Amino acid sequence: MEDIVADDFEAMWRDLLPVGRSASSGGYFRQPFGGAEREAMAWFHERAEALGLDVEADPVGNTVAWWGGPPTAGGPKAVLTGSHLDSVLDGGAFDGPLGVVSALAAVERLRAAGVSPERPVGVAVFVEEEGSRFGLACLGTRLATGALPWERAAELRDRDGVRLVDALERAGFPEDPRHVEWTELRDRIGCFVELHVEQGRDLVDRDAPVGVASAIWPHGRYRFDFAGEANHAGTTRMEDRHDPMLTYAMTAIAANKQARLSGQRATFGRVDVHPNGTNAVPSRVSAWLDARAESAQHLEEMLAGVERLGRERAGRDGTTLEVVAESVSPEVRFDTELAQRIVAGHDWPVIPTAAGHDAGILQSAGVPTAMLFVRNPTGVSHSPDEHAEMGDCLAGVDALAATLERLAT
Ligand code: HGY
Ligand code: MN
Ligand code: MN
Repeated sequence: MEDIVADDFEAMWRDLLPVGRSASSGGYFRQPFGGAEREAMAWFHERAEALGLDVEADPVGNTVAWWGGPPTAGGPKAVLTGSHLDSVLDGGAFDGPLGVVSALAAVERLRAAGVSPERPVGVAVFVEEEGSRFGLACLGTRLATGALPWERAAELRDRDGVRLVDALERAGFPEDPRHVEWTELRDRIGCFVELHVEQGRDLVDRDAPVGVASAIWPHGRYRFDFAGEANHAGTTRMEDRHDPMLTYAMTAIAANKQARLSGQRATFGRVDVHPNGTNAVPSRVSAWLDARAESAQHLEEMLAGVERLGRERAGRDGTTLEVVAESVSPEVRFDTELAQRIVAGHDWPVIPTAAGHDAGILQSAGVPTAMLFVRNPTGVSHSPDEHAEMGDCLAGVDALAATLERLAT
């Protein structure tokens, strides 16, 4: 049994590994509805069909491969597993794909063992989990649960100004998303289990290859638009400037300090400068704050603190600051009963995480949801250096297979 799983997981992993990997950094660029991500999705279709699964996709490409056929009206609700295949810019190999490949391997293992599920088991791949193209994290599951209306999603724009609705058309998506019953998938599933690489070092500290999630910290993405006055970098006296870069820089330092003082997380990881010339004071800087905290109150207080300090600085610099919340995800507490069922008889620690996941959106939509984490020896994630040892990945496949068997039979 072990050998079959090892061979299948490792073979699939090797097969998918080169798709979207940068030759220079070794990181991944699998942005949604573009070449590498579509290639990874095509790989999933091919692999799922080779396993004899029935593959369904919605108009934005959320895809489910069903073992035992799709759930039917009046029939038992399905057990859903899976994750995502898109990546952040220059991301790691494991964030997303580990959950998808492990799910296929787990299903393959159960089938080979002659397990006969009493309810359909689906392996899902959700689109644009990272929000790396359209800015909104978990776009696919927000749509599939009805949390985000299509009319709003359609107008989201990528960095080049391309609307989601146009990106789908250009990528040749066949179905018109306007007339879709978006919550159909949500209503057909009884529970969801997402396996994911851990994005911290809790499991290393606990000496455990596998863990289970208890909760996700509330988090959000906020665009800070700083505006000032474009001017000559040589001839403009320092005291005559209205430099939005300066206001941004002081705001970034303030955010770091606010987060450190309160034990939360704040990051400015993306900046857009206009006109981005070496010899000009910029007219405008947009910067994106990723903020995460242990409670909604801590998050609000931290954001308010950063905003207040940014505005004070803008007042001194003669610049302006506008803040727009682009994506906000409240705290998620995963289904305790489901987690207890999954860990019963195992020594898997139950731990919280500050990373966002499609699992959080499904839980918030009322689907009992759990997550399995696989140890990450360095904790590094959203980076080409993200890693998990093969032995731990296989322990994850074992854990997922045992979980699916427990929930589906
Ligand atoms: O950004 C996140 O927390 C997740 O990895 N998408
Ligand atoms: Mn991620
Ligand atoms: Mn992920």
